Amino acid sequence: MPFTATVGDREVPCEPDQPMLDAFLRAGVWMPNSCNQGTCGTCKLRVVDGDVDHRDSPADTLTEDERAAGLALACQARLRSNVVVETGGGAGRATHPLRDLTATVREIEDIARDTRRLRLGLPEPLAFHAGQYVELTVPGTAVRRQYSLANTADEDKVLELHVRSVPGGAATEKWIFADLTVGEQVQVTGPLGDFVLPPADEDDGGPMALIGGGTGLAPLIGLARTALARDPNRKIVLYHGVRGEADLYDLDLMAELADSCPNFAFLPVLSHEPGNSTHRTGFPTDRFLEDIPSARGWSGWLCGPPPMVDAGVKAFKRRRMAPRVIHRENFTPAAT
Ligand code: FES
Repeated sequence: MPFTATVGDREVPCEPDQPMLDAFLRAGVWMPNSCNQGTCGTCKLRVVDGDVDHRDSPADTLTEDERAAGLALACQARLRSNVVVETGGGAGRATHPLRDLTATVREIEDIARDTRRLRLGLPEPLAFHAGQYVELTVPGTAVRRQYSLANTADEDKVLELHVRSVPGGAATEKWIFADLTVGEQVQVTGPLGDFVLPPADEDDGGPMALIGGGTGLAPLIGLARTALARDPNRKIVLYHGVRGEADLYDLDLMAELADSCPNFAFLPVLSHEPGNSTHRTGFPTDRFLEDIPSARGWSGWLCGPPPMVDAGVKAFKRRRMAPRVIHRENFTPAAT
């Protein structure tokens, strides 16, 4: 029999082996969440009544002292009784429910070095916010891997994912880059994550700085297109950091956006293989510091490998961006 988890005036059923976060999101009750694998700490909450099993919560994300103080990671904890939890940041409000769907592969396109675009067709719309991600289940296994959506939310029957091959990767080298074919069915779970714009009526319309590394460009495309649909004159700078020119993609799409939106700029930056390219070189965070003397009143969006995200946070703060409007999505190695 399921237990119940209560936050504010919302009470959701939770099966004994179901992570608490999963139960909340499937019921359409929002909780802060990001990695969904116990590494980021975003979903940390306080259990004020009842008992949980912390299961695989890593000790460096949830310390012994925190456990003793009643904290838990919602994405890992299972209920041992009915619980009442508290967490900040608007938890408990309605959100797009987490769902499992069977998608059909519509398109597989090699778009850059070791990088593929997948377009998956859905049998029915999936409500999500631009910038969120989905999980794909590797066929015949329980292995799930997370991929950001490059879509805007109105493209709700087609999901676009940008996938970089990982040497030895169970989902990439052994499946998506090996034998995945058009027409194949794929199990999708989503949407997840809170790397999203504020709702339109709470969006101040201020300038935005977006920095993505590699396929970290994917959610930034969705965010930039959504923000520009709200206001085509909005100032947005989007830096794409890659090793070399062979890693760049969607340059035509970016050029089209820049043509139709006068204050949008797309800025590729090559870190290791400048070759004869006309693009700028180095690290995108350094180029941001060079270009933008003050980011006071801006918001910031960082997606990619953790060192790039950390450097981006420092760069944004150096330019006086308020910490509460610095949003980050770390591409961390998949949990085993
Ligand atoms: S630790 Fe739970 S969402 Fe990251």
